[in-house]
Amino acid sequence: MSLHIKKEVPSLSKDPLQRRRWHLESLARKIGIESIRAQFPILEIIVRGKPLVYLDNAATSQKPKNVIDTIARYYQRENANVHRGIHFLSEKVTEKYEEVRSKVARFLGAKVDCEIVFTRGTTDSINLIAQSYAYPRLKPGDEILITQMEHHSNLIPWQVVSQRTGANLKVVPITDEGILDLTQIEQVLSERTKIVSVVHVSNVLGTINPISELSKKAHEVGAVIVVDGAQSTPHMPINVQELDCDFFACSGHKMYAPTGIGVLYGKAPLLESMEPYQTGGSMILHVSLEKAEYAHTPQKFEAGTPNIEGVIALGSAVDFLQSIGMHEIYHYESALVQYAYEILSQIPGVHILGPKKPRAGVVSFTMDCAHPHDIGQILDEEGIAIRAGHHCAQPIMERYGISSTARASFAVYNTVDEIDQLAEAIYKVQEIFK
Ligand code: ALA
Repeated sequence: MSLHIKKEVPSLSKDPLQRRRWHLESLARKIGIESIRAQFPILEIIVRGKPLVYLDNAATSQKPKNVIDTIARYYQRENANVHRGIHFLSEKVTEKYEEVRSKVARFLGAKVDCEIVFTRGTTDSINLIAQSYAYPRLKPGDEILITQMEHHSNLIPWQVVSQRTGANLKVVPITDEGILDLTQIEQVLSERTKIVSVVHVSNVLGTINPISELSKKAHEVGAVIVVDGAQSTPHMPINVQELDCDFFACSGHKMYAPTGIGVLYGKAPLLESMEPYQTGGSMILHVSLEKAEYAHTPQKFEAGTPNIEGVIALGSAVDFLQSIGMHEIYHYESALVQYAYEILSQIPGVHILGPKKPRAGVVSFTMDCAHPHDIGQILDEEGIAIRAGHHCAQPIMERYGISSTARASFAVYNTVDEIDQLAEAIYKVQEIFK
């Protein structure tokens, strides 16, 4: 069996999948899919004799031309260190660097620029919170609340904090459908809870967690809430004030910027109250041989020469996202993910993890006939890049009694045709392994 998409007039079709397809094609035209794709040189490459179909965006997104050009221009015409020199280049690049801080602050809805700390990525941001906020404050008997759907980057730092402080790590289970049971959270939350740390969008299930509601519940018991926004920031509008989270972490490389750059948002009074956990150059007001007086936030958290190129290119990635519009991106990608969900769920022997709706970014699945690594390999032969494995979320695998999944993950440049190719390739996997 294989896929047959009928070419009928939309209004005459009774097939819901076909109608969804036409709807998606019209959304793609509206969002300007051709011109979006033209901005990504890598989408032109041929892989194993076929045009690349890149569906591994949750691992890392591809980079648009304006981001690539920014990096080249930086090294060709702008390179200098920031916050140090008094010469032309250093002043210019410092200005640019701080302009990106303002841009990111507006992009995430922060109140003030000093709430934005540049880090290496989500993992680095969460480790900063764990080391600088949690470690000095938590005592035996305190509680940290996470969920069963966390990526290792929002699990292991809290395991370490709990081992070192004697605080207890509490885990909210997920339902069979892959969502959080809010009544379970209410039962676990108490005045002992000091930190709630939760993923916004699961990198395996695609579940979108109700952060505003969770923030309200965390604040009612006096806890702070940390949000892992690695998989939400590229796909939907983020407003940290509306989410009312205390900390929000995200990675540049999943949102069209280079690797090695990320963001930690923290409410200003919280960041001011924290000691840096890395010290050195560029984070001080005054130093003697005996002691140092630290700079204010965010400088005190950016010790050493930062990833200047990364910050400036992150600014260009934000420009790229805003040139399309985050609401438009969310609308288009949601339709894309729904179509992928529908088409894959109609293939016999394919099992999709996570809720049907709402979901963002990813569709993870297993097949009765083939191991995820075999699926990945056969898809690779078709020029289709997906990820196969535990996706750095082994507790989720354990929850569903599996060791790995195949995962297709989407970006704004993906198309309905690419999803049809994915489905065709999955039929091929079935033919090979039946
Ligand atoms: N966390 C990234 C993923 O889910 C690397 O693939």
